[in-house]
Amino acid sequence: MLTATPPRQAPTASDSAGFDFAALRRREFGRLDGQGHAYLDYAGSALYGSSQLRAHLQLLEDGIFGNPHSESRCSRASTEIIERARDAVLHFLDVDASTHLVCFTANCSAAIKLVAESYPFDARCGLLLSADNHNSVNGIREYAGRAGAPLHILPLDSELRLDHPERVLQAAAQRGGGLLALPAQSNFSGVRHSLSLVSHAQVLGFDVLLDIAAHAPGKAISLRQCPADFAVLSFYKLFGYPTGIGALVMRREAGRRLRRPWFAGGTVQFASVGANLHRLHSGSEGFEDGTPDFLGLAALPAGFALLDEVGMPRLSDRLAGLMSDLLPRLQQLRQADGSPLLRLYGPSTLQDRGATVAFNLLDRNGQPLPYALIEAAARDAGISLRGGCFCNPGASEAAFAIAPERLTRCLSRLRESFSPARLAACAGSAVGAVRVSLGMATNQADLDRLLALLESLEHCLDDTRSQYVELPLQ
Ligand SMILES: Cc1ncc(COP(=O)(O)O)c(C=O)c1O
Repeated sequence: MLTATPPRQAPTASDSAGFDFAALRRREFGRLDGQGHAYLDYAGSALYGSSQLRAHLQLLEDGIFGNPHSESRCSRASTEIIERARDAVLHFLDVDASTHLVCFTANCSAAIKLVAESYPFDARCGLLLSADNHNSVNGIREYAGRAGAPLHILPLDSELRLDHPERVLQAAAQRGGGLLALPAQSNFSGVRHSLSLVSHAQVLGFDVLLDIAAHAPGKAISLRQCPADFAVLSFYKLFGYPTGIGALVMRREAGRRLRRPWFAGGTVQFASVGANLHRLHSGSEGFEDGTPDFLGLAALPAGFALLDEVGMPRLSDRLAGLMSDLLPRLQQLRQADGSPLLRLYGPSTLQDRGATVAFNLLDRNGQPLPYALIEAAARDAGISLRGGCFCNPGASEAAFAIAPERLTRCLSRLRESFSPARLAACAGSAVGAVRVSLGMATNQADLDRLLALLESLEHCLDDTRSQYVELPLQ
């Protein structure tokens, strides 16, 4: 028998600063309760509210929109949509067009790549990456490496926070500075890294790329107060819809340091075949290859309107309140003999963290159970959560304490036959976890369902699948 934790009292209708989140859930996300679903993967994607769909559909039904790269009335209507979307993004990030450019991209990854391929890396101008980064940021190292730029990593401590980053920054600054790229919030652990690092790095001569994809959906971020040179995000993570649109928001001054490696339709003032010359647009358009998703961009204002209605401070309080319930209850879960049922990765407190938590269930010997077991049980129970490494190998390696030498030998050996299970067997460690992340529609009942599911998994604890039995390495 597992020790059950008592469910919290039934939620009140209006439980965060007078805002009626229960009514919001009924009105905007009624399909969740209609289908009996508990959605707990907001770090994967937010859910769209019904009002966003209605507003978008109405706009499309009423309007006539042509390709924006022209001067017809329909073309101008599309240009207006794009400019309105740019303004909404600037407003959301507390800056304006006098200091910042908003370049629309296919997603956050494409926004990062715009910087990666255009940044002036060389032997003196290096790359400094936080060990905690999404792979779409880690990939910058390929461009830096090709340019012969030095690479430095900011390590993580046992709570998966940056471990004395000032020291590495200082050392990297002495070698010539360059680009620092880090997430404002970890998509693995939910850790919110200190934003004071941004101006600290800038004072030392670095440009800073701040990945706000995981942070922006749960807490307001001001690029006026936190003057990152480049900020990147995807809009489906903010409000679920539209998918396929992200943005690079950059300080105009920093944008001038980028050198685009090519040009494309939409990016040039002119291009000539005979003269073999081209000139890029100086503003956002110079970074927007081809025709932007002008109909998709028309959906952004309704997404921001929903966030505005709730209010970012209220949303962030609401999420903190739910986390203050979830986190201790997870930690209190016990096996029959009183040993912990799960191992949390990252901070065990609410200090400087968002509404994301990663963990593994432990078997009777205290070994992590394969995350896929929990993922499958959750799927059967109508709960959406995420299993794996969440595209964040650095945070995973720190969480599972896999020694770099062993990892190198395992990955070299498994190069042709890689699978997470084989890596786990080789490393003698878990290589994936379960991630639960909360958002605007989450309520107490969702958390109670999750806790009840975890408590019900007692039969799994005897699972002696030896995924993590260490294999000898030649
Ligand atoms: C922190 C973080 N950065 C970047 C990305 C990449 O976003 P996208 O897949 O939308 O390009 C993700 C996606 O999960 C993320 O969580």
